[in-house]
Amino acid sequence: MKSYQKLTTYVPQITEAAEDAADEKPLCHQKLSAWWLGGGLLMVAGLLSGVTVWVLGQIWWSQHETHPLTKCISIPEDLRFDCYPERNVVVTRELCEGRGCCFVDSQQGSGGTSGVPWCFYPPDFPSYTLGSVNETELGMVGFLTRKAKTYYPKDIEKLQLSVEFETDARLHVKITDASSPRYEVPLDVPTAKKKAENPLYAVEFSKEPFGLIVTRKASGTVLLNTTVAPLFYADQFLQISTLLPSAYLYGLGEHQSNFLHSLEWNTLTFWARDVPPTESCNLYGVHPFYLVMEKGGAAHGVFLLNSNAMEVSLQPAPALTWRTIGGVLDFYIFLGPDPNLVVQQYQQVVGFPAMPPYWALGFHLCRWGYGTSNETWETVKAMRNFQIPQDAQWNDIDYMDSYRDFTTDPQKFGALPQLVGDLHKHGQSYVMIVDPGISSTSSPGSYWPYDEGLKRGVFINNTEGKPLIGKVWPGLTAYPDFSNPDTHQWWLENLSRFYSLVPFDGVWIDMNEPSNFMDGSSEGCSQGELDNPPYVPAVLGGSLSAKTICASARQNMSSHYNLHNLYGLMEAKATASALVQIKGKRPFVISRSTFPSQGKYSGHWLGDNRSEWKDMFWSIPGILSFSLFGIPLVGADICGFSGSTSEELCLRWTQLGAFYPFSRNHNTQGEKAQDPTAFSPVARAAMKEALEVRYALLPFLYSLFHRAHLQGDTVVRPLFFEFPKDVATYAIDRQFLWGRGLLVTPVLDPGMDSVIGYFPRGLWYDYYTGSSVNSSGENLKMAAPLDHINLHVREGTILPTQKPGSSTSESRKNPLGLIAALSQNSNAWGDLYWDNGESLDTFAKGDYAYLVFNVTQGTFTSTVLHSNVEATYITVDTLTVYGVREEPKTVVVNGKEWPFTYLTNQVLTVGDLQLNLSQGFYVRWL
Ligand code: NOJ
Repeated sequence: MKSYQKLTTYVPQITEAAEDAADEKPLCHQKLSAWWLGGGLLMVAGLLSGVTVWVLGQIWWSQHETHPLTKCISIPEDLRFDCYPERNVVVTRELCEGRGCCFVDSQQGSGGTSGVPWCFYPPDFPSYTLGSVNETELGMVGFLTRKAKTYYPKDIEKLQLSVEFETDARLHVKITDASSPRYEVPLDVPTAKKKAENPLYAVEFSKEPFGLIVTRKASGTVLLNTTVAPLFYADQFLQISTLLPSAYLYGLGEHQSNFLHSLEWNTLTFWARDVPPTESCNLYGVHPFYLVMEKGGAAHGVFLLNSNAMEVSLQPAPALTWRTIGGVLDFYIFLGPDPNLVVQQYQQVVGFPAMPPYWALGFHLCRWGYGTSNETWETVKAMRNFQIPQDAQWNDIDYMDSYRDFTTDPQKFGALPQLVGDLHKHGQSYVMIVDPGISSTSSPGSYWPYDEGLKRGVFINNTEGKPLIGKVWPGLTAYPDFSNPDTHQWWLENLSRFYSLVPFDGVWIDMNEPSNFMDGSSEGCSQGELDNPPYVPAVLGGSLSAKTICASARQNMSSHYNLHNLYGLMEAKATASALVQIKGKRPFVISRSTFPSQGKYSGHWLGDNRSEWKDMFWSIPGILSFSLFGIPLVGADICGFSGSTSEELCLRWTQLGAFYPFSRNHNTQGEKAQDPTAFSPVARAAMKEALEVRYALLPFLYSLFHRAHLQGDTVVRPLFFEFPKDVATYAIDRQFLWGRGLLVTPVLDPGMDSVIGYFPRGLWYDYYTGSSVNSSGENLKMAAPLDHINLHVREGTILPTQKPGSSTSESRKNPLGLIAALSQNSNAWGDLYWDNGESLDTFAKGDYAYLVFNVTQGTFTSTVLHSNVEATYITVDTLTVYGVREEPKTVVVNGKEWPFTYLTNQVLTVGDLQLNLSQGFYVRWL
């Protein structure tokens, strides 16, 4: 099991050669691409000399304009930008040319590769012109004007362009209506006080037609070049395209896809939607943020702060088109240059994630259809009986009376308060679901949430000013308007009233896209321009109201058309704030719908996956993407939500799920129980073992969350974040890291007793045994029997661990262990953040311990940089050092000789230390 097989025949997923080939792709149309290549060179020349590229381009076109077909077919396929993105329309030559665009069908085009648009913009398609640009305190401002109208109604003729050099690594580009204000996303974003002094970027403009070119100064890499297609800025259609410097593009959620997006004519849609995760569909959340790896290992990111329904079209040029139907174009560009920095810089804008309570990192169990509180309780007892770690027990909608929020089924869930009391007695927690839809059909005076909500006017209204009625689990429902501060107060009161009956510890907010079993409302939707915009992005169902409420619905802050994608965010904010007021502790909220900045208020689970192997795989790109979005507390339903799991799948999934930052097993009603106690003794034991490894590693995980909270470090991390120069890591989404140093390689296929994983160059230690492998940057095949998940510690890492208990309240009392995995130079580093695990703002208040661990020259040192009373309760019991090349003669602890063991696989163990965590110490081996 602990041996490695080097794979000489196994080809890494992406090699240098493959990368080069990808870079060369636009050149494969040799003859036709010559112009574009020339254009590219001219652009660079233009940038250098201050001459705008477009002028030169126009000269070229003026010579060719008399040959419209030549003009059209000479555009390489990869650089054809779709002029007719509408679906459900057969795009004919007539329709296309009616828009002033080029029509080249597959017969005329070279090859007619699928996805290449038949109707695309000619380079002389009218766009905006940039007038003079004036310097401002933070950058520059200019005005864009459009002379010719487009084919969408209400073109905005004059735009204001503002470019702010906010920090050396952050550029802010905003294009707004110059004459009247438009809807903008109500997010608290930082504002710069002074212009960046040494920006990593250079900004150039093309004036006629307008284009923006952003370059990384250090390498000359062009990060954005929007001269490739016209800018649109109509009231309900805004579009801008850019070239990308590489095809290594990540982010853009929420979607079910590989972590590395395909740029093969791939359109991603953003409109919060209740649907089991399906490829190519808009899903629960909206995250218009991407990260691109450039040649040489630098990274940059782009965030479009816009909450309207939108699409991003990706094409192999490589290029990207943003297409949104409202708001403004408000871009933040992050220059990294390290991918970790890009994600931190993004979170400096949207906000850092909340610090979760410690128990949130334990194992959670849920099921739709326990049916009764007693059955729920039986599961908890069975888990305890087998001493399988569990921190939280959850209930789904079946605890409610007729599925109405803030009620319990008096018969079936009559014992719920007792169950919760028992959980608390055992140091465990209780979480229940709350849906936003409030039943509107109870007789007046019998259901406080609705009666009171009506009185206070907290519900979303239809265009006639009456509460919009849709349908969810309880039948007809009204939808709280969380953009109204009064709704937050009403929500708090509802939760407080329920808390006095059932003292819950956290809240699960589901169905908050918001979901509606009807399209729009019980009365349909208006026929106005919000419900029927001139352009509808490729949303599932073809309409904005598909399985949600009408876009024309009225909310306190704006129309639902603008606020739809923010529903989950606003509900999470109200819920987290209510929890703080009720409990005075760190809130725990898990939300299905999410938007940028959500991490400040909640975590996320990936929704209604299926009990299938493929779905288990999808969870890895899912959690990696949410790491990029600044929502580190994320996981998928372990063992699968719908369908029937199998013992093998559930076991493998529990092993993987033990490494989700948020680890919860949940399934749908009507399916068999799938908690660990439901399986054979062998499977149960293996699941328990995996969860115990998680619990052992919780001090490390918690410390990673502290860093996420403090500065936006990722918790779960793609390999390329740590090895950005190793192109072979760029497509890896079957493995992931915790922090910088723990590599997880799960089995994702049935019937396997081995697994292949990529190991970037360097020493990697088997977590369990300390045996090492020195990888040259290669795929290795490892034994992976059913009771084993492969974990490797990267050289140079120190992991704080703790003896696992059956819940975190137990494990937190146990002594700590430290695992130091030495680098080739025999160094290592690690840290530990420790506090009481539940109080608010412990870091800000200074109520925490922070320790740094180091190994240099045969000495392990624990340095206490900050201490508090919690640290005095904890001892460090064992130090295990991996990679000690020679057997030491003596080991000295704080000046005293100490017994030790040394194994031939170069593992040194020093036990029985009983050192108080709050006091620094050293261990030296000689
Ligand atoms: C949909 C959620 O995604 C799922 O997890 C839950 O079990 C059902 N709603 C029922 O509440």
